[in-house]
Amino acid sequence: MAAELQSLVAWEFNPSDEDQRTDHKYTPNRPVPSRCLEELGVLRWKIDVQNTESNPALEEIKQMRGYKFWETVTVAPGKLENYEAKLAQFFTEHLHPYDESRLILEGSGYWDIRGINGDWIRFHVEKGDLIVLPPGMYHRFTLDKQNYIKALLLYTEVPTRVDVMSPEGDKLEVRKDYVNKFLNKLGCPGPTLSSASSNITEESFSSRSSDLGYDSEITAKLPALSLQDDSALAIPTVG
Ligand SMILES: [Fe+2]
Repeated sequence: MAAELQSLVAWEFNPSDEDQRTDHKYTPNRPVPSRCLEELGVLRWKIDVQNTESNPALEEIKQMRGYKFWETVTVAPGKLENYEAKLAQFFTEHLHPYDESRLILEGSGYWDIRGINGDWIRFHVEKGDLIVLPPGMYHRFTLDKQNYIKALLLYTEVPTRVDVMSPEGDKLEVRKDYVNKFLNKLGCPGPTLSSASSNITEESFSSRSSDLGYDSEITAKLPALSLQDDSALAIPTVG
């Protein structure tokens, strides 16, 4: 069966003091139309994850988007080294110079993405959701109350593990490309680049990137990627 894009149920994020793992909806809820997420560049498919080894829809998406590498990562207490620190890192606003493509195999969680007015938009993901966030989109991820997610991470190239935090990401071409491709073409006003970006130096950017613990060794440790379990591959990213 051909892979078909699916709509997403999303809502405006209420920045209350509640646990980040709750839904953070306003009362009453403020839904965000799926169309708006599509305009921001978010893609979603629903995949039968009973058999990811030979799944026609998944194969079609891999072919279409050029995914040549993948790995499985579990985020849960006891399943990920430095779990608490990693969870805090996932929930820190950041972007990547590549798209973030995740197929949820088990468990669930929340992604927050920046809307055109700079406010957070939240959506929930669960088993079978294949989500793609475009390069240059600011976002963050958190587990929900299940405290468990297992995801297949898909890449077009051998991952370089680059998380660029806000507002450092504003200076990257990939961010400018995202703004031009998606945000500036929308009819709604809103901040695009952070005013703080002009104060960022190459030195501070390099420092923050290396603080995240990503280095060439991690990339070198990647096996000839296949659909294998994550027991020997504690990659410090999911969101
Ligand atoms: Fe991310």
